[in-house]
Amino acid sequence: MASVPNSDELIFFVNGRKVIEKNADPEVNLLYYLRKVLYLTGTKYSCGGGGCGACTVMVSRYDPKTKKIHHSPVTACLVPICSLYGAAVTTVEGVGSIRTRIHPVQERLAKCHGTQCGFCSPGMVMSIYTLLRNHPEPTLEQITKALGGNLCRCTGYRPIVESGKTFCAESTICGLKGSGKCCMDQEERSFVNRQEKMCTKLYNEDEFQPLDPSQEPIFPPELIRMAEDPNKRRLMFQGERTTWITPVTLSDLLELKTNFPEAPLIMGNTAVGPSIKFRGEFHPVFISPLGLPELYFVDYTDDGVTIGAGYSLAQLNDALHLTVLEQPKEKTKTYRALLKHLRTLAGAQIRTMATLGGHVVSRPNFSDLNPILAAGNATINLISKGGERQIPLNSHFLERSPEASLKSEEIVLSVHIPHSTQWHFVSGLRLAQRQENAFAIVNAGMSVKFEDGTDTIKDLQMFYGSVGPTVVSASQTCKQLIGRSWDDHMLSDACRWVLDEIYIPPAAEGGMVEYRRTLIISLLFKFYLKVRRRLNKMDPHKFPDIPERYMSALEDFPIKTPQGIQMFQCVDPYQSPQDPIGHPVMHQSAIKHATGEAVFSDDMPPIAQELFLAVTTSTRAHAKIISIDASEALALPGVFDVITAEDVPGDNNHQGEVLYAQNEVICVGQIVCTVAADTYAHAREAAKKVKITYEDIQPRIITIEQALEHNSFFSIEKKVEQGNVEQAFKYVDQIIEGEAHVEGQEHFYMETQTILAIPKQEDKEMVLYLGTQFPSHAQEFVAAALNIPRSRIACHVKRIGGGFGGKVTKPALLGAIGAVAANKTGRPIRFILERGDDMLITAGRHPLLGKYKIGFMNNGVIKAADVEYYINGGCTPDESESVTEFIVLKSDNAYYIPNFRCRGRPCKTNLPSNTAFRGYGFPEAAVVAEAYMAAVASQCNLSPEEVKEINMYKRISTTAYKQTFNPEPLRRCWKECLEKSSFSARKLAAEEFNKKNYWKKRGLAVVPMKFTVGFPVAYYNQAAALVHIYLDGSVLVTHGGCEMGQGLHTKMIQVASRELNIPQSYIHLSETSTITVPNASFTAASMGADINGKAVQNACQILMARLQPIIRKNPEGRWEDWIAKAFEESISLSTTGYFKGYQTYMDWEKEKGDPYPYYVYGASCSEVEVDCLTGAHKLLRTDIFMDAAFSINPALDIGQIEGAFIQGMGFYTIEELKYSPEGVLYSRSPDDYKIPTVTEIPEEFYVTLVRSQNPTAIYSSKGLGEAGMFLGSSVLFAIFDAVTAARKERGLTKTFTLNSPATPEFIRMTCMDQFTDMIPRDDPSTFTPWSIHVS
Ligand SMILES: Cc1cc2nc3c(=O)[nH]c(=O)nc-3n(C[C@H](O)[C@H](O)[C@H](O)COP(=O)(O)OP(=O)(O)OC[C@H]3O[C@@H](n4cnc5c(N)ncnc54)[C@H](O)[C@@H]3O)c2cc1C
Ligand code: FES
Ligand code: FES
Repeated sequence: MASVPNSDELIFFVNGRKVIEKNADPEVNLLYYLRKVLYLTGTKYSCGGGGCGACTVMVSRYDPKTKKIHHSPVTACLVPICSLYGAAVTTVEGVGSIRTRIHPVQERLAKCHGTQCGFCSPGMVMSIYTLLRNHPEPTLEQITKALGGNLCRCTGYRPIVESGKTFCAESTICGLKGSGKCCMDQEERSFVNRQEKMCTKLYNEDEFQPLDPSQEPIFPPELIRMAEDPNKRRLMFQGERTTWITPVTLSDLLELKTNFPEAPLIMGNTAVGPSIKFRGEFHPVFISPLGLPELYFVDYTDDGVTIGAGYSLAQLNDALHLTVLEQPKEKTKTYRALLKHLRTLAGAQIRTMATLGGHVVSRPNFSDLNPILAAGNATINLISKGGERQIPLNSHFLERSPEASLKSEEIVLSVHIPHSTQWHFVSGLRLAQRQENAFAIVNAGMSVKFEDGTDTIKDLQMFYGSVGPTVVSASQTCKQLIGRSWDDHMLSDACRWVLDEIYIPPAAEGGMVEYRRTLIISLLFKFYLKVRRRLNKMDPHKFPDIPERYMSALEDFPIKTPQGIQMFQCVDPYQSPQDPIGHPVMHQSAIKHATGEAVFSDDMPPIAQELFLAVTTSTRAHAKIISIDASEALALPGVFDVITAEDVPGDNNHQGEVLYAQNEVICVGQIVCTVAADTYAHAREAAKKVKITYEDIQPRIITIEQALEHNSFFSIEKKVEQGNVEQAFKYVDQIIEGEAHVEGQEHFYMETQTILAIPKQEDKEMVLYLGTQFPSHAQEFVAAALNIPRSRIACHVKRIGGGFGGKVTKPALLGAIGAVAANKTGRPIRFILERGDDMLITAGRHPLLGKYKIGFMNNGVIKAADVEYYINGGCTPDESESVTEFIVLKSDNAYYIPNFRCRGRPCKTNLPSNTAFRGYGFPEAAVVAEAYMAAVASQCNLSPEEVKEINMYKRISTTAYKQTFNPEPLRRCWKECLEKSSFSARKLAAEEFNKKNYWKKRGLAVVPMKFTVGFPVAYYNQAAALVHIYLDGSVLVTHGGCEMGQGLHTKMIQVASRELNIPQSYIHLSETSTITVPNASFTAASMGADINGKAVQNACQILMARLQPIIRKNPEGRWEDWIAKAFEESISLSTTGYFKGYQTYMDWEKEKGDPYPYYVYGASCSEVEVDCLTGAHKLLRTDIFMDAAFSINPALDIGQIEGAFIQGMGFYTIEELKYSPEGVLYSRSPDDYKIPTVTEIPEEFYVTLVRSQNPTAIYSSKGLGEAGMFLGSSVLFAIFDAVTAARKERGLTKTFTLNSPATPEFIRMTCMDQFTDMIPRDDPSTFTPWSIHVS
């Protein structure tokens, strides 16, 4: 950091070491400081906005007033370093290390298989660790609560929660039914009689070190002395552009606020920080009274509670909790409403950082607390140099009227929340895309006061959030209702009036207009019912209760700690104890993940002279580039160069993929140029200053519908057909036609795309370290872009922080862009995409339109199907054609339809180019088959499960493309799934529940699956390995596959261990590189372990064959002796191994082939409950039965199944990409794209690996990386089942369009009722919506 005069020294501790920063820059956050200044790279960057938890660290402070030390989990990306004066920071490195001692939290996360790619793991460790520092024996609820702010895209959370649970005093056995005894024990015994015994233990808790809180590092005594120093003085830190001032007393703060009225007060920085980072706000001066004693207090008075503005939301929670415990219930209604919202507001980290004062003053329109505070008549105590005053926290304040707001020199000292009274009712209501850590789609705070002893309204207040630019009050409606009785007439008028008063325009920002309108009155209705219920409780004679069937409308879904059981085949007792095949071996890097010592590309230390790259992307979907003016960017400090298409020495357009836009842009987000600078901050600032002028080109094609209109496709139609479809339609009882729209999905791998490109001085060599699933593809693109032979390009991959298909092709493009910059500047280039850029540029799963015509008999037998698929490929070919082929080949899923025609075509549009994504077309296409099964069932008055069973492949069969297969495991999975999930009994129970509950409905669904593994192009299935044995006996294995969390390297070590007959500890696997294994295939299509396993096996077998004569001569010898002897006898101890690959093919002309080596089968059953009034849903239980054949490693395979299932569930329910009609992607952060968190996973989750034979693959295993994804659709169909029940009861048609994702908006608007009937509807031809669907 550059030296600046007049700056104080910033003193804090990191992991017990004192840090004295003489040049603390207020613009630098802790995450940057840890990673780039202290080189503590365990703490990860993933979103930069507090939304993912990857950067969680613990901040400890000493409070001189209470003499206590407080430990808080914080997201380092939102902590300005200047706020840390006197604090002790603990990062994952400070918790434990392989070099010293690993901590029980780290050990258990690893051993419970709670890490896959490992990118989220340090954050998970820190969240659990901090919890344990505060609560060494936490409750189950505390564990779930502590993890709510941490996203994981790989594991599906179950094992992470399980590792946390091992610290709980409560039973850590499954404890279902509250018995403390695993309810499957009985079940397990019943398997003993079967062919093979089933196991449920994936780890051995006896191995765990105990947690000993006395072993934790002590808080630095120097910081205690500093905190207690009576002569503390004002601190000032002067940065490159900004000044930070920490006042020492309240009067000092007020003085500063008078002198710098525009300066923000930095408290939690959770509002100011994101505004600076994402909205480009700039503040020359920051004032930070964090820790000023006058702002931290709670005063319990006779009429309420006064809470200091500095109290964090977590402290507010504790203070309110205490009040609720101590005060009579009638006085605590406002507090209880606040507590309910505090449970789900953001995650634990943000709740410990954000302050009450900051929340109240920043007045976000989505605020969860302000509407309740206003409804509860809270007041704000203000102070300035001029004195103190009180203002009401009311509609004028929230709607930002200047006369009701703070004056610029004032600060909030505290907030007073009065007790509620006997005839006064207060509630908080909210609905968000997911239950926790998501801004509300609409929320509300409501209160009503009655004339004592009556239900006559004396005062009514209704405040709504997320319905306009500020929180708004329905004050007119409330006024009009005074004097009215709390009855249905009042409700009906209230709904009409409030809709008039709070009008959301049809094109309002945020979209979901009709849904939000519906929520306004649905939430009001909930409040109405709650109040009626409470009135009845107070005087049952006077006030009638609400109907029994309406009771379920009252409460939101509770958050429970998930639990479940995983079952897999036990290892043959006769297998050698040293042989690890079949055992749940921990991920090779798990401990390193948990200690933060696993090195990802951006964790590599700085390279001398390296430059950082930032991108300037197109803001138009289809336009001619008129000019690019980089002069202003070039003039900025630290800027080294601007790189454009002109600088590409070779192919700027390789295989149709454009590196830098040239002459025209074809999507919003296309890279036009990059800026190389000495820091990323400089590069990014400069990238914003590049001026590009455009001239729009027509047509601009965004949706599939538009592509069809313009006949815009990447390839010709792909088709398979069997039987005689036209003829069959003539003889069926019924025909239905329909459409299903499936929207896209963002990969949201936790590690964004990462490239390090290092130009060598000699022979134009270039070395790249990158996170890719396909290093040889990156090598190809870089070589083409630089116009040099591939032999001079070395691509290395150590590990990837999640890929899911998103790192197959895109890293090649980005690698080439980075390499061009490295080539031009002659300097190493560090090119790390920010989350927003990554989401914008790299796109994801293809949105899909499925059109079907189905002919069937009245008994549910389908005779004919004619299905067409269109996918939105985006602007360049990428893999869209191949995804289309997969869709056409796989779309029959588990069903035999004798007359079947399936066609598919990839559409060319002006969206960023979509790419591979786990399942590769299958998850989006197979739901269409499930949709028409459901539609047929509805027509035949059968259940979907009956129709599925009737039409399922039953015996050795042939697909439409003439591949023969035996679906026996499919039938077994299906049958076991129905039986073991007690589907029929639970279905009946759900029907019973539905009869009794009008506003909540339960639904169940079972989906079967036939999934294909591998690629229909034989040469893609080949693999190679390189195995060296060193003279000490240690073995280095290299192969062409990439480790992205799936545990590929772990499995390869298991394979080598079995083949060489040596312990796993002898075997090392370091990285994947184009130097050791050339021309390797992508690690995708679920075949990483299959093909690389065969190559490793081959290499090991070659080596063992060479060693055999030596072993034979000395059979009692040790491995080391044999190796030494072999060397003496000049036997080569190194070899390559090779697997030619499955000989697959597909002849599209003949519509015939043998495209896949084998199939994976499975079935899953899910049960949900939906809230018909809000559209929220809760996943109660999921049972998965997956045909794993023989699992090489059940822990890894179950991890893949669970992780894929949760990713699939997210895809089908809450993950929603929003595009403007002009093709601008709005969803560019975890704030506006919601992947599942720990609260979304099934409350009960059972996974069983079903045994079968698969001689095709190594050790008769199966590739399970992708298959679980589609099983997530059981949640989608369970939701449809619940929605169907609601619609049936309301007398609506049984069939309705089945689209994905089934978001809360979709659920609510499909469960039509008097409220959806009441809202104003807009004529679509009169406005342009804020967002559109692109499928
Ligand atoms: C990832 C994430 C998720 C979130 N989720 C939710 C959610 O689900 N629901 C929700 O309601 N909110 C949510 N929030 C918003 C959060 O509640 C607010 O950002 C937070 O309460 C602001 O408090 P702060 O202390 O961080 O404010 P800061 O950012 O420190 O300050 C905010 C503003 O308040 C002013 N200010 C602060 N204290 C005072 C004072 N004492 N007197 C005068 N002015 C003051 C500052 O000048 C500044 O202008 C989320 C935020 C993040 C980052
Ligand atoms: S990187 Fe800090 S929360 Fe995501
Ligand atoms: S292991 Fe959690 S994101 Fe990969």
